[in-house]
Amino acid sequence: MKQHQVERLRRNDLIDATRKYEMLCCMRDRKSRLRIIATLLVHSWLRKTGVLETQISANKTLNPGEDRAKRDLENALATFQAYLDQAGVTADSVSGSRIIEIGPGVNSAVALQFIAAGARQVICVDKFVPRSFSAYHDKLYGMLRTRLPAAHGHNFDAAINIEARTFNPERILYIHGGFESLRLIVQDGSVDFIVSNAVIEEIYDVETALDQMCALLRPGGYMIHKIDFCDYGLFSRYGYSPFEFLTIPEWIYRAMAEATGQPNRRLIDAYRNKFNALGYDTRFTDVVSYHLSEESIAEIRPRLLPRFRKIATEDLAVSGAYLVARKPGLREREGHVRSA
Ligand SMILES: C[S@@+](CC[C@H](N)C(=O)[O-])C[C@H]1O[C@@H](n2cnc3c(N)ncnc32)[C@H](O)[C@@H]1O
Repeated sequence: MKQHQVERLRRNDLIDATRKYEMLCCMRDRKSRLRIIATLLVHSWLRKTGVLETQISANKTLNPGEDRAKRDLENALATFQAYLDQAGVTADSVSGSRIIEIGPGVNSAVALQFIAAGARQVICVDKFVPRSFSAYHDKLYGMLRTRLPAAHGHNFDAAINIEARTFNPERILYIHGGFESLRLIVQDGSVDFIVSNAVIEEIYDVETALDQMCALLRPGGYMIHKIDFCDYGLFSRYGYSPFEFLTIPEWIYRAMAEATGQPNRRLIDAYRNKFNALGYDTRFTDVVSYHLSEESIAEIRPRLLPRFRKIATEDLAVSGAYLVARKPGLREREGHVRSA
C-alpha cells in the first residue's frame, strides 16, 4: 500500500473514532460538562494536527437543491441590506468603494451585491472555507442576478461569469486564509468598509485583528460587524446556563476553542472599551439580550472567571448586536459615503 493511502486510512480511522466517541458521549450522559470539554479538546487536536481542516459543523457538501440556494440568497440579501441600514448609508454610497468582507462562508453573494451596487473591489477573506463552485452556487448566483436592480446587472457581469465559474479578481478577490494575510496585499488606509456577519466572535486574538482592520481602514471608513456573544450552544444546548462557558479556565478554553471556531468569549464591554480607546465613533444596534431573571445571573456570577464576574448585568445579558464604528479623521471622501 502506498504512503498516501496509509495516511488516508489513518485519517479516516481517526475521524471515525471521533464520531463514535461523540455518539458515546451523547448517549451516555448528554449533560456532562467534562465530556463536552473533552470532545472539544479532541476536535481541537484533530485540527491542530491537520487531520481535519474544517470547523465543527461546517458543511462539506452543499445540497444543490433550490431550497438551500433560495434560503441562502434571502439571507445574503438581508445581510447586505442590514450592513447599509446599520451604517445609515444608501446602496449608492458604496459606489467606487473598496470593501473587505471577513468570513463570507460558503458563498460570495454579499460581495456580489456590493459590486453590483458599484463598489470598486471586495476582498473576501475566510480562514476555513475556500471559494468553491457547484450546482448550488450556479443556482444561487443565477437567482441573485435576477433580483438586482436592472442598472446593476453590468457590474455583476463584470465580476462573475456563472457559466465559466470564474470571478474577476479585480472585482472580487478571495483569500482562503487568516485575516493577518491581508496586511501583505492591502495597503494601509485604503479600505472604505470592513464588514462581517457572525465572524468576529470566532477570531481568537480579536484585539490584534481589530488593530489590523483599523490600519487598513481609511479615516472616515466604517466597520460593521454583526457579533454573537453567546456560547454557540456549547453548553447551553445541554441545558446549562448560557454563561457556563465563562466559567472554564482560560488555558482549557483556549485549547478547546481556538482551533475549532468556538466563540472567543469577548462580551459587548470588551468591544466598547476597545473602540473607545481607538477613538472611533461607535454604536451598538439591533441589540438582543437574554431574558434571564436577576436570580439566575446572581446564581452563576460567583462561578464566572474573575474578568467576567465584574461585568454589569446589562452587558452580560447581551447575546448579540451589530457593532458600527467609524474611524476618526476625514468625514467624507469626495462624494463618498453619503448618509441615507
Ligand atoms: C458562522 S460563519 C458565518 C458565515 C457568513 N458570514 C454568514 O453570515 O453566513 C463564520 C465564518 O467565519 C470564518 N472565520 C472564522 N475565523 C476566521 C478568521 N480568523 N479569519 C477569517 N475568517 C474566519 C469561518 O470560516 C466561517 O466561514
